[in-house]
Amino acid sequence: MLLKFPSDFQFGSATAAFQVEGNGGKRNTDWDIFLKNNPQIVKPDEKGPQWWTRDKAEKDITSMQKLGLTIQRLGFEWGRIEPKNSVINYEAIKRYKEIIGHIIKLGMTPMVTLNHYVLPEWIADQGGWENNETISLFIRYVRLIISSFPEVTSWITLNEPNYLVDAAYLSQAYPPQKSSIVATLVVRQHMITAHKKAFETIKQLNSSSQVGVAFALRWYPPEDNNDPIECGYARIINYIDNYNFISAMRPADFIGCNYYTGYFLNLDVTNITKTKRAHGIHQTKLFGEMKKPDAYVTDFGWPIVPDFFLALLRDLYKTFGKPIIITENGLADHEDKYRSFYILTHLVALWKAIEEGIPIKQYIHWATIDNIEWLEGYRMHFGLLKLDPVTGKRTLHQSAHLLKDIAHSHAINTENLLRTYLKGEQREKARTIIDSLLRGELQSRVVNDDKV
Ligand code: BGC
Repeated sequence: MLLKFPSDFQFGSATAAFQVEGNGGKRNTDWDIFLKNNPQIVKPDEKGPQWWTRDKAEKDITSMQKLGLTIQRLGFEWGRIEPKNSVINYEAIKRYKEIIGHIIKLGMTPMVTLNHYVLPEWIADQGGWENNETISLFIRYVRLIISSFPEVTSWITLNEPNYLVDAAYLSQAYPPQKSSIVATLVVRQHMITAHKKAFETIKQLNSSSQVGVAFALRWYPPEDNNDPIECGYARIINYIDNYNFISAMRPADFIGCNYYTGYFLNLDVTNITKTKRAHGIHQTKLFGEMKKPDAYVTDFGWPIVPDFFLALLRDLYKTFGKPIIITENGLADHEDKYRSFYILTHLVALWKAIEEGIPIKQYIHWATIDNIEWLEGYRMHFGLLKLDPVTGKRTLHQSAHLLKDIAHSHAINTENLLRTYLKGEQREKARTIIDSLLRGELQSRVVNDDKV
C-alpha cells in the first residue's frame, strides 16, 4: 500500500546545543558544572560530535539533506552567547550564523530551540528558573537572538518544561537536583511566563515566525478501558504529566510534540517505584506504569508503542484543536536493531493521524547523530548517524535509509519497506501493527489481551 504524505509535509532531524557541540570555546553552563561533578557520565577521551568545530555540524547536516530531510532542528546555547551578565560573545553568534547559513544554503528550514534545559552558569548561580529575574534576562536574550537571526522563522522557546520541572526540581535527576514541590510550582510558573513573553517578543521582532514549545508527551492509557475508575485515573495522569502545561503555555502557533513511548496505567499504588537511571541517580516512577506486554523495548527500556502515538495525536487535537509538530521522536538503539521497525510504524501512525484530519506538517526525528544523553553520556545512541565518541567517526545506520526512502518518495510504500528493512518476527509484527493502525484501532491491555 502507498501512503502518501501531503506535498507540503516536511521530514527532519534534531539536536540540542549542549548534546552535540562539545566544550570547544567554553559553554559556561550549569550542565558543565554537573558533568564536572559527575565525571563518570562523559569520559575524558569522549569528544562527541563536536559541532562547535567548523565543518562538523555542516557535514552532518549535509548527510541529513542527502536523506531527503528538509528541516534541521538545533539549539543555541545561551551560556556561549552571554557568558556573563550583559557580556555578549559575538564570535558565538557568528558560529551559529555559519550553521544556519549552511542549513539554508542546502534548501532546508532551520528550527531553533532557545532553551533546551541548560542555563548559563551565572544565571544558575542566581537561582536559575526559581528566580523571577531569569524571565526578564531570558527575554533580553531572546530579543538579541531574534534580531540577530531574521533568517530563522521557526522557534521553540523552551524544550520540555513539563519534564524539566520534574527532573530538576522534584526527582533530583538534573541540576539543580532539588526535591521541592514549592520550587517545582515556582519554576513552572516562571517558565510559563517566560514562554508567553518570548512568544510576544518574537512576534514583535519577526511577525512571520512560527513559535511554540516542545513538550515531553508520553501517552498513558488505562490498563482496563472498561474500568471507569482507571479511565478517570489515566485522564488525570495525562493531564498532570502532559496537558496542564500545554493549556498554560499559550499563546503558541503549534504544539511541539516530543513523543517516545507510553505506558498502561493502573491504580496499584505499590507500583510506585524508584527507577535507577545511570550512575546511581534515581528517578521516581509515580503512576503505576506498566509496559505493554508484547512491545519491544529500546536500550533505555522504553516500550515501542506506535498505537499510543496515534492515540496521543488524536487526543491532543481533540483537546486543543491546534496544529501539531512532531518535534522529537526516536529511540536509543546502539545496534540499530529496532530503529527501522520504530520509524516505519510511527510514521504509519502519523500518516493515519494526518489522514484523519489532524494538522501535522512536520516530523522531526531525534536525533541527527549520537550525542550526550543527559545522565547516560555516550551510552545511549539515538542518532541516524552512529558516532564513535572518541574518534568522531560517523556511519549512517541502515534504518536511516528507510527514512530516506520515505522522505524521497514522500510516501510510505508499506510492503516494499517491510520487505527491504525488516525480517522474520519483526516484519510480521510490524505488518500486524500497520494493519491495525490503518484500521484506526488502538489497543487496551485488558480488552485486547488475546491479541497483544
Ligand atoms: C530530550 C532530548 C533527549 C531525548 C532522549 C528528549 O526528552 O529533549 O534532549 O536526548 O529526550 O532522552
